[in-house]
Amino acid sequence: MLTKKIAVLFSGSGSNLQAILDKVHNKVFNSVRIEVALCISNKADAYGIQRAEKYGLETKIIENKNFSSREEFDAALVEEIKKQDIDLVVLAGFMRILTSVFTTQIKAINLHPSILPLFKGAHAIQESFDSDMQVGGVSVHWVSEELDGGKLIAQRAFERKSQMSLDDWANAIHSIEHEILPEAIVKILCNN
Ligand code: GRF
Repeated sequence: MLTKKIAVLFSGSGSNLQAILDKVHNKVFNSVRIEVALCISNKADAYGIQRAEKYGLETKIIENKNFSSREEFDAALVEEIKKQDIDLVVLAGFMRILTSVFTTQIKAINLHPSILPLFKGAHAIQESFDSDMQVGGVSVHWVSEELDGGKLIAQRAFERKSQMSLDDWANAIHSIEHEILPEAIVKILCNN
């Protein structure tokens, strides 16, 4: 059976890594098996490391603070990813801006907690909540040199309810993320 390998890069809690492990890792779609073959964190204390461990997966820690430039850090990521035949890299809460050293060499998708192109950047949940938009949502897109600017793969929205708190808003976003990211991976790798 054909196996397609993914690498998952994360920085923190790793709830999206968890969704990928639960929903696609070692599972078969359209006669294609998906394997999480590599986990990378840029933070040594990221909780996602423990989530990966529960699946018997070791996380490679590559801390950006140990590199003197973004390019050197990106080169280290690329080197690690290229050690294996990775079919797709998934940025799942990976909170680093990547340079062309990475984006020109690696086929990657990113998860973003807004309906792009609205609310690019690191504060999308807060900014979309504070806006007068009556929908919030999530996007999955190809990684390009432009931050949160690559071609869109999938988007899903939810309606703002009256009395919604910031926590409610964030929870609505996260529950969509946990669906849409695994679905996008399957769509890309197994829909031929
Ligand atoms: C997600 O909301 C993602 O969209 C954003 O960072 C968060 C990561 O959450 N970029 P987790 O670490 O996967 O729980």
